[in-house]
Amino acid sequence: MQSEQLLIWLDIASEAALAAGALVRDRWGKVESIREKGQAGDLVTEVDQAAEAILLAVLGRHLPDHAILAEESGAIGAVTNPYQWAIDPLDGTTNFAHGYPVACVSVGLAIAGDPQVGVIYDPFRDELFRAAAGHGATCNRQPMRVSSISTLAQSLLVTGFAYDRRETADNNYAEFCHLTHLSQGVRRGGSAALDLANVACGRLDGYWERGLKPWDVTAGVVLVREAGGWVTAYDSSPLEIASGRVLAANPQLHPVLSQALLNTPPLSQWPTPAAQ
Ligand code: IPD
Ligand code: CA
Ligand code: CA
Repeated sequence: MQSEQLLIWLDIASEAALAAGALVRDRWGKVESIREKGQAGDLVTEVDQAAEAILLAVLGRHLPDHAILAEESGAIGAVTNPYQWAIDPLDGTTNFAHGYPVACVSVGLAIAGDPQVGVIYDPFRDELFRAAAGHGATCNRQPMRVSSISTLAQSLLVTGFAYDRRETADNNYAEFCHLTHLSQGVRRGGSAALDLANVACGRLDGYWERGLKPWDVTAGVVLVREAGGWVTAYDSSPLEIASGRVLAANPQLHPVLSQALLNTPPLSQWPTPAAQ
């Protein structure tokens, strides 16, 4: 019963993401207002807000008893509600505002804190990534799997840098240098949700980032897990979304990437080629 119910919610999430994504695509190149929300570089446009209004309308119409954590509107409904949607109407706002077409809509559902349904829609590639716990993961209705790359030396990775990067020493710069040295490359996509979708479909082999919000990752966590990947804390302990730290990779690479993150030397010791 619960399992079949997840598929109904998956379709509702898809309806919402496709509708919001169509708006994002329509407004491409026509952004009128760009402002900083709080921290330097944390942008919001009228397109973020209009896309979020669509997501809220669709979810609210179908699921008035569920709670929603929306990036631009905050918490809607009781925090004690076990059914919590986490929605990002435009993940990759900086890219979008600059006219760089790497952005998506992310719609995830956590039940009692556990991510169970995830939909990510990339309106620029017209790719719809979907997953529900126990039902596998698809891209445009075709099953998708994580990659099988097992060594960092053969891997292509992705990461990101949170908006507080200028205010904290825990800014991911040392990890970025370390993994760039060990891998075939570390991309900085600018959309955490798409980064996770790209790990889920095997284009990228691993992803880590700190400073993330539930709306950045809830949907992507379901995609990666249902595509056969592992998603945890950096040290491979169980994922705590509230910690803001995520490590996602295929099962072969995951422990290797985890160990490399834990072994990251401080930037003051860089470069350290002999130690590699
Ligand atoms: C951001 C993107 C970016 C990540 C940031 C997020 P936004 O979300 O996902 O890749 O590095 O931490 O805040 O602001 O574009 O919705
Ligand atoms: Ca985001
Ligand atoms: Ca956003």
